[in-house]
Amino acid sequence: MVIAVPKESALGERRVALTNDGVKALVADGFEVLVRHEAGYGAAVGNTAYENAGARVVPEGEPLVELADLTVCVNADDRLIERLKPGSAIIGFLDPAGNLSSMARLAERNVTSLSMELVPRISRAQAMDALSSMSTVAGYKSVVLAAASIPKFFPMLMTAAGSIPPARVLVIGAGVAGLQAIATARRLGAVVEAFDVRPAVKEQVESLGGKFVDWGLTTEEAEDSGGYAKEVAADTHAHELRVIGERVPKCDVIIATALIPGRPAPILITEEMVRGMVRGSVIVDLAAVGGGNCEVTKPGETIDYHGVTIIGSLDLASSMATHSSRMYSKNITAFVKSMSKDGVLTVDLDDEVIAGSLVTHAGKIVHAPTRLAFEKGESS
Ligand code: NAI
Repeated sequence: MVIAVPKESALGERRVALTNDGVKALVADGFEVLVRHEAGYGAAVGNTAYENAGARVVPEGEPLVELADLTVCVNADDRLIERLKPGSAIIGFLDPAGNLSSMARLAERNVTSLSMELVPRISRAQAMDALSSMSTVAGYKSVVLAAASIPKFFPMLMTAAGSIPPARVLVIGAGVAGLQAIATARRLGAVVEAFDVRPAVKEQVESLGGKFVDWGLTTEEAEDSGGYAKEVAADTHAHELRVIGERVPKCDVIIATALIPGRPAPILITEEMVRGMVRGSVIVDLAAVGGGNCEVTKPGETIDYHGVTIIGSLDLASSMATHSSRMYSKNITAFVKSMSKDGVLTVDLDDEVIAGSLVTHAGKIVHAPTRLAFEKGESS
């Protein structure tokens, strides 16, 4: 079977879905891999590296995805979708909830689509968990950006010109991105406090050298049966705002990562809190993807609000394309390997990981929330 690796088309996107290592592994499994000319340049993977790994590099203007049984991508736009071969498959961050009409078009064109956002977060699928990979990159980069933006040192320094206290960092949401942010801020010498609705993360925060802010929430109040955060009651939210509000004026940096799957990001840093911060402080709002945890965040922009820098970048993973592509390529390779044998792909609907990630198959939208949202949109 033929796998195609297109050049990503989104503005500023530097990642690529398969690096040369991924190509090598899939060619060894019996696949033929076609890569678009310069598809890997943004991730520092040249055409020659792909050729040495066993891929054929396809010049611009020549058919690529039209020939493929499987297309692997980071993002898929409508132009790409229209060129896919009927009966073929596509794997990538398809964002089904945000691209309902494109998902319908995939079904109409009889393309089987699997979305990396939907890969179930179970032990067996850890190697395929691309959301975690990208959040690891974003968590690290958020702290590096903050350190480069505050007019202060991160570590404590004892110098002939006097001693300098360490920067104080507050991490809100200690999931994958938050834990990586804690580890990075600690490595740079900051004092770190971390906050989460799930008391279960206390141990992880402490093992990375952070101080967990225990605000008395129980696991039952905070988690659903899958271990994910659930939306807290209004009085709990008010209590949380008070606890955060007490800490905000004392910190130099806030890294906000709090998100509840499928919901807009909760507002945890109000405009009033931002006004109370010391000039020169920085907020990096990773939850900008879901609207932001800070009331004044502008997704995709960096703004100055009463002397506080608020970074709402949406492309942190792409900004570290070499490593984010390498990680994503590993996730994609593991996914493809899990659903193929001797270079032949099989869509096993009894497989929990495949069934969970499947958006369209056999001419239908099979992912129930996407189908319902599409039908609702059609009838309104
Ligand atoms: P995750 O789901 O693993 O972690 C989110 C954490 O927030 C969980 O630990 C959850 O318990 C916590 N949380 C939820 N509600 C909360 C509340 N009210 N108060 C305190 N904590 C709360 O998510 P992950 O993978 O760590 O990603 C974090 C964020 O980073 C997401 O919004 C994701 O979309 C974003 N992200 C942003 C990127 C960018 O370029 N800006 C790139 C990659 C991820």
